[in-house]
Amino acid sequence: AFPQQVRLVEVGPRDGLQNEPGAVISTAIKVELVERLADAGLRHIEAASFVSPKWVPQMADGAEVMARIDRRPGVIYSALTPNLKGLEAALAANVSEVAVFTAASDAFTQKNINCSIAESLERFAPLIERARDAGVPVRGYVSTVLGCPYAGEIAPVQVAGVCRDLYQLGCYEISLGDTIGVGTPLKAKRMLEAVAREVPVGNLAAHFHDTYGQALANLYAVVEEGIAVIDSSVSGLGGCPYAKGASGNVATEDVLYLLNGLGIDSGVDLDKLVATSCWISEQLGRTPASRVAQALGCS
Ligand code: HMG
Ligand code: MG
Repeated sequence: AFPQQVRLVEVGPRDGLQNEPGAVISTAIKVELVERLADAGLRHIEAASFVSPKWVPQMADGAEVMARIDRRPGVIYSALTPNLKGLEAALAANVSEVAVFTAASDAFTQKNINCSIAESLERFAPLIERARDAGVPVRGYVSTVLGCPYAGEIAPVQVAGVCRDLYQLGCYEISLGDTIGVGTPLKAKRMLEAVAREVPVGNLAAHFHDTYGQALANLYAVVEEGIAVIDSSVSGLGGCPYAKGASGNVATEDVLYLLNGLGIDSGVDLDKLVATSCWISEQLGRTPASRVAQALGCS
């Protein structure tokens, strides 16, 4: 059965903009993007990353972004934190929530955060404890849940094990990342079935990239199985700099159109969202990647 409501986690300002090659996007544009998204009704916005600026220079101004956002009551402004150093910076920037990130594949984890899965979990344990003391919820990401650019096929039971570990460490929600968008609906369902044996479906989210154009189909499949939290990126911005071939996340406006058609409430205004998609695309010197923005057009 379909859920009555879905919570959209907007990751465009982070997952989208972290991957912009070439010209660095100004702090002012990042701040305006986050504010426009909140104005469109998004209630959970991943706004920054407190990672090494040598690894991801695009996200080096996270503290500045967080400081300049005109925050709305009821909106969660979250950030990625790979280690304690990142967590301390995120807490100093007064984030509402943080997220740790690892993967179902050791090869990918090594490329992305320079350690094994087991080492990443050891790193997260004190981070999660410190965040709990500070009263800041921690989300957990597991990448490569439907395939890895380095290791290929990933067994669902492998994904389930890492999800269980993050959940037991204290992550309130685990976001399942199809990092390179290689999944298909039946595969996504089987993966979810395995994970749901370890973590309640109510504590899971779907984070699908759209590289092969399957993200909406995969979302439909997992929402039917009870997933009620979806990560998406306005205009389909993004990718992962440490995953060759990763294209953007599924576009928020495309997901919203799907949800609206299913009668599932998300509290987001399609017109304002499309206007934001058009605006950020113009800032980046391109047309929106999403089908819905193309269909409705930019004025
Ligand atoms: P490392 O080189 O092993 O780290 O990188 P280190 O602890 O040895 O430190 C090296 C240097 O980085 C030191 O500076 C540290 O101070 C500094 P130096 O002494 O050389 O001047 N440093 C930091 N600086 C700022 N903030 C920090 C920080 N930590 C260390 N937090 C590290 C390990 C994890 C830091 C690095 O690999 C890293 O930053 N990786 C992040 C990669 C990343 O952001 N990837 C994209 C996000 S994940 C994603 O997109 C997937 C997702 O969307 C889900 C999906 O789609 O599947 C979430
Ligand atoms: Mg991602």
